[in-house]
Amino acid sequence: QISVPSAKERTFIAVKPDGVQRRLVGQVIHRFERRGFKLVGLKLLQVSKNLLSQHYCQLTKKPFYPDLVEYMTSGPVVAMVWEGPNIVQTCRMMVGHTNPAEAHAGTIRADFSLHVSRNVVHASDSLEGAQREIMLWFDGHDLLKWDCIDQSVTS
Ligand code: PPS
Repeated sequence: QISVPSAKERTFIAVKPDGVQRRLVGQVIHRFERRGFKLVGLKLLQVSKNLLSQHYCQLTKKPFYPDLVEYMTSGPVVAMVWEGPNIVQTCRMMVGHTNPAEAHAGTIRADFSLHVSRNVVHASDSLEGAQREIMLWFDGHDLLKWDCIDQSVTS
């Protein structure tokens, strides 16, 4: 029997302030749509320092943390939840290496950014991380369950 990865896996993706300011939101969304993933939650928000300290709770002691907070609060962020098979790992591959200088061509960070401190997008790094981040950024009722009425498109 062939095992098929669960389509119900979800991940958290954010277009960071540099991505929003550089009008890259549509291009980022397009990549995940084109891959076949399903958008189940989306909002534009100005992030609070409190939310950031929870989101980046493992980084608060890092020397770059103050710069990271300044950057992440410099403008609105687009927060999203996407759904699909093996989505956490696949989105990490599509986003590329944290440092754009080391990212492979064709990944979002390689194609749109130059420096780790302005790397356009965030993607959860594990299933547990995704669940934690989704609960932190979204109320459950803001995440929608929906199916395609057109059977030629995967649900
Ligand atoms: S570490 O040190 O290995 O734990 O950090 P790393 O996994 O490489 O990165 C974690 C997040 O911190 C961001 N980052 C930075 N932001 C601003 N300035 C600098 N210098 C910097 N270095 C790392 C990095 O983009 C990661 O953010 P997310 O949102 O998780 O991609």
